Amino acid sequence: MASTRGEFSSRFGFLMAASGSAVGLGNIWGFPTNAATNGGAAFLFAYLILAFALAYPALMAELIIGRHARANAVTALRLISRSKRSRVLGTIVGLTGILTVSFILSFYAIVSGWMMAFFFDPLARLMGMDGLAKWLTQDAELRNSIFALLFMALTVFIISAGVKNGIEKWASRLMPSLIIILLLLILYVFTLPGATEGLRAYLVPDFSRIADPALLVDAMGQAFFSLSLGVGTMLIYGSYISKREDLPTIGGLVALLDVGIAVLAGMLILPAMYVALANGVEIFDATGGLIAGPGLIVSVLPALFATMSGIGLFVGVAFFALMTIASLTSSISMLEVPVAYGVEHHGLERRKAAIAIGSLIALISLVIVFNFDPLFDLVVTYTTEVSQPLLGFAFCIFVAWIWQRNDILSEIKQGSPEVESGLFWKIWPFYVKFICPVAILVVYFQ
Ligand code: PFF
Repeated sequence: MASTRGEFSSRFGFLMAASGSAVGLGNIWGFPTNAATNGGAAFLFAYLILAFALAYPALMAELIIGRHARANAVTALRLISRSKRSRVLGTIVGLTGILTVSFILSFYAIVSGWMMAFFFDPLARLMGMDGLAKWLTQDAELRNSIFALLFMALTVFIISAGVKNGIEKWASRLMPSLIIILLLLILYVFTLPGATEGLRAYLVPDFSRIADPALLVDAMGQAFFSLSLGVGTMLIYGSYISKREDLPTIGGLVALLDVGIAVLAGMLILPAMYVALANGVEIFDATGGLIAGPGLIVSVLPALFATMSGIGLFVGVAFFALMTIASLTSSISMLEVPVAYGVEHHGLERRKAAIAIGSLIALISLVIVFNFDPLFDLVVTYTTEVSQPLLGFAFCIFVAWIWQRNDILSEIKQGSPEVESGLFWKIWPFYVKFICPVAILVVYFQ
């Protein structure tokens, strides 16, 4: 089976794919608004510490297990287990991860569909199709269904093409475009009145908040969601890395890219919100806090673009292209988890597996669209706040308590022979064994 598996052809390809998974709506939307409502740079500070001290070690656990097993999460966790009981546990954790990531994708596709609809809105207006533009920006079940399906179709299309010709090829095109669009938007917004005010709201720390449990819970949730942890995406991407690669270094680069782009996104979103304020757009909600939910993306920012006259159309296209790209490089990593399992565990053909599983997830999206109020928040909460941290905990337990330490070392040594004498091996095993599980549980029970 190993010979038919895909592999990333270069370090760059892996970095684009893995950072593409990590960089998503969570970075561009979640991080800046979380920071703004949680004491600005105090949140940034807590986030940086948690991302490198907790999320990076957990990321490494997934990458190492994946590359060692060269298999999907279920097979991989069973492979590193030594007793019958831990093999059963491995199956349960692997399958829960597959189920969780499928449900995350089902709501992610809906939100990403909104981004696509808003991307087409300025284009429709440019072509004088005002009726269509209005339809695109009005929250309705039909629009939401069509765009969620369209987004899922794109995801299925890329995953059907496989690791090298699908994931790697598209991530290598889309991620550099994302970074360029993000930088251009930041530069443009900085030239507008009100931007420095936004930068101040983002970067001036309110350190009285730093020990606030709510801030720490938010920062940790943000870090885990942002690095796509716990659900097997990083494990499956790890399984496609060459044995010659130096894992601690490339894992570190993925974390750096993820954090770096989140920090940059803050330099776009908050200044943009204060530019909107200067242009007369309401950016605070009834309680006096910044509007952070869907209202930010689907009303505050479009209202800002509308105040920019002609150039606003182009800024709108660029912004929603950015959001759509960020979503797509994340969604493909999500779909890859159940597809790899279907291919390796049930002998399905990749294209058929991608279509069948993608359709099933799209069906769940539709059920959510038509029962939005009772279901949407419920699915988000259960997957990202309950399941993801518990699975992250389970991965740490597997790597540190169930897997043999010597096997871990020899796996890492294949691509970095000096690792045993370096800082990583002095700190990381202790971290995943004690600090990560305890910290995850403490924050979880907050
Ligand atoms: N990391 C993505 C984001 O920040 O938007 C979300 C995500 C991707 C979560 C992949 C889980 C996952 F498996």
